[in-house]
Amino acid sequence: MRFLGINGSYRKDGLDNKMLEILKEEFKALGHSFEILHLVDYDIKYCRACVSQDMSLCNPEKCYEEGDDFKKIAEKMIESDGIVFATPSYWYAPSAIMWTLIERLTSLENTPIKFLDGKPAGVISAAGEDGAQSAITAMIVPLIHMGMLILPYGMTYFSGKEDDPETRKYLERLAKNMVFAAKNLPPYCWWEQREEKCLSSTTHQKK
Ligand SMILES: Cc1cc2nc3c(=O)[nH]c(=O)nc-3n(C[C@H](O)[C@H](O)[C@H](O)COP(=O)(O)O)c2cc1C
Repeated sequence: MRFLGINGSYRKDGLDNKMLEILKEEFKALGHSFEILHLVDYDIKYCRACVSQDMSLCNPEKCYEEGDDFKKIAEKMIESDGIVFATPSYWYAPSAIMWTLIERLTSLENTPIKFLDGKPAGVISAAGEDGAQSAITAMIVPLIHMGMLILPYGMTYFSGKEDDPETRKYLERLAKNMVFAAKNLPPYCWWEQREEKCLSSTTHQKK
C-alpha cells in the first residue's frame, strides 16, 4: 500500500521531517511505501473562496488552475491509502502553507464526490515549547468534517529538546494502525452510509 506524509514546515530538515522519516522507516518495516511531500516544494495559490459566492462554483475542476500545484497534491492525496499531516506549531496554529492546503481542500469536499471520505489520517506536530496540541486540534476539526478517519491515538508531537522514546512509540503505533485501518476497512461511503466508496455518488447534498 502507498501512504503519504505531508510536511507543512518551511524547513525540509526540521523536526516535522524527522518524525516523518521515522514513520517512513516504520511503514517500510511493515512492507509499505510512505512518500514524504514537502509543501514548500509546491506552489499552492490561496483559496479564492468560490464557495462563499456560490457553493456550486467550488469543485476540483474550478480549483485546478494552470501554474498552481494543488492538483498534483490533491491527486497524491486521493490515490494514497492514508495520510499523515505534519505541521509545525507557528503561534499555536498550523503553518500558513498547511492552512492554505486545508482551505484548498474545500474543493474536494464540497462536491457530490467526497474525495477524502473514510481515508485514514493522523496529525503530528513539532513545536519548540507549547503549541503542538493547539496546532493539531486546529487540523483535526476540518479533516473530520472532510470525512477523513482520524485514527485512535493518531496524533503526536515532538519538541526535539531531548530524545523522546514516547514520540517514537506513538509514531510506530500510528504506522501500524494506519496499515490496519487501510487493510481492514470495508468500502463504505461515510457521507451517505452506503456500502461502497463515495466515488460513485451522484447526489449533491449540502452540508
Ligand atoms: C513563526 C514561528 C512561530 C512559532 N510559534 C511557536 C509556538 O507558538 N509554539 C511553539 O511551541 N513553538 C513555536 N515555534 C517554534 C517551532 O514550532 C519549532 O521550531 C518547530 O521545531 C518547527 O518545526 P520544524 O522543526 O519542522 O521546522 C515557532 C516558530 C516559528 C518560525
